[in-house]
Amino acid sequence: MNFFNEYIDAMKSQCLYRQNQVYEPISASHVADGGREYLMLASNNYLGLTHHDKVKAAAIDAIERYGTGAGGARLTTGTHPLYEELEKDIALFKGTEAAVAFNTGYMANIGTISAIMGKDDVIFSDALNHASIIDGCRLSGATRVIFPHSDMDKLKELLETTPCRGKRMIVVDGVFSMDGDIAPLDKIVEIAKEYQTLVMVDDAHATGVLGHGRGTAAHFGLEDEVTIQMGTLSKALGAEGAYVAGKKELIDFLINKARSYIFSTALSPATIAAAHAALKEVMHSPVLVDQLAANGRFMRAELTKYGVQVNQAETPIIPIIVGSAERATAIAKRLSEQGIILSAIRPPTVPVGESRLRLTVSAAHSQADLAMSAKKIAKALQDEEMD
Ligand SMILES: Cc1ncc(COP(=O)(O)O)c(C=O)c1O
Repeated sequence: MNFFNEYIDAMKSQCLYRQNQVYEPISASHVADGGREYLMLASNNYLGLTHHDKVKAAAIDAIERYGTGAGGARLTTGTHPLYEELEKDIALFKGTEAAVAFNTGYMANIGTISAIMGKDDVIFSDALNHASIIDGCRLSGATRVIFPHSDMDKLKELLETTPCRGKRMIVVDGVFSMDGDIAPLDKIVEIAKEYQTLVMVDDAHATGVLGHGRGTAAHFGLEDEVTIQMGTLSKALGAEGAYVAGKKELIDFLINKARSYIFSTALSPATIAAAHAALKEVMHSPVLVDQLAANGRFMRAELTKYGVQVNQAETPIIPIIVGSAERATAIAKRLSEQGIILSAIRPPTVPVGESRLRLTVSAAHSQADLAMSAKKIAKALQDEEMD
């Protein structure tokens, strides 16, 4: 039993201890705890669709018609008709031949990468890729080559010099989850063509955000060039689950080989219906995606006005690098005492010395709330500096 306590004590002494904090969501932009309301700047609910009337109604209707749980895996118990409708629309939206849904983004990444890549293969993975990509690469048994973040010269050099008997894959986050920047997919595709390499993009933070909501490939006009487009239904689409979109043969292959797809109970009807209703909102109207982009620009301008250094990406993720884990935790605590929730991101999620406040903007935020929070964030950073 000492093993458990020793680990926890080590985490506490390094300011890396994590604990669940209970918050009750009261709207798409606010949460409550103990009778107090907080502005939520730590959610990936980029379009506020968790609380959209049509999305909620679709989930409620699905429960009333079909009950709560799926009862089994899709290949054994049968696929719900709601899945077929959702997957058809995902493919249409992404401009691909087909799509398949997974239960989570984590499962989509580990299942897809480990199904496609094996021990004779080589995966070239960006240094800042999400943990689920890293775990998928590990699980595949392929040789892993990590290239410095978005360094295209180094990627080329590594492709040139790494021996490979089998297939090669370049895999990147479309929008990097902790830095908010966009992968240089145009250059990656060019390099991939030169070296006959598969390209996989994780659009967890690009779905509903970039390319009129269609993701990173659409943002660059490269829908036909990216073999494997993965994305989530759990962030901008306000539900749960994930998808992989691509050619029919890719999707058929994954259904037959991806273990996280085959050996797990399907999503509940309510979740599929909610994800589909959310997707339809994005497909049929640019309003929310445009509002999100406007809010991102507004928040960056407000923070810059107060002297806070921020990235200038066209994404809703704004990291503020503060250095130590202690500093990140202390500033986040200060802000939570003032009614603002944002994430203190610490190692191992980011490298040592690069702990940060990660704030995310949503289409559901009012500009008055964003302006008020930018002022408080700037003040909290200054106060922490002086203490
Ligand atoms: C880039 C990226 N990929 C995959 C995932 C996993 O998605 P999910 O939360 O649906 O498992 C996340 C989210 O945490 C992510 O940020």
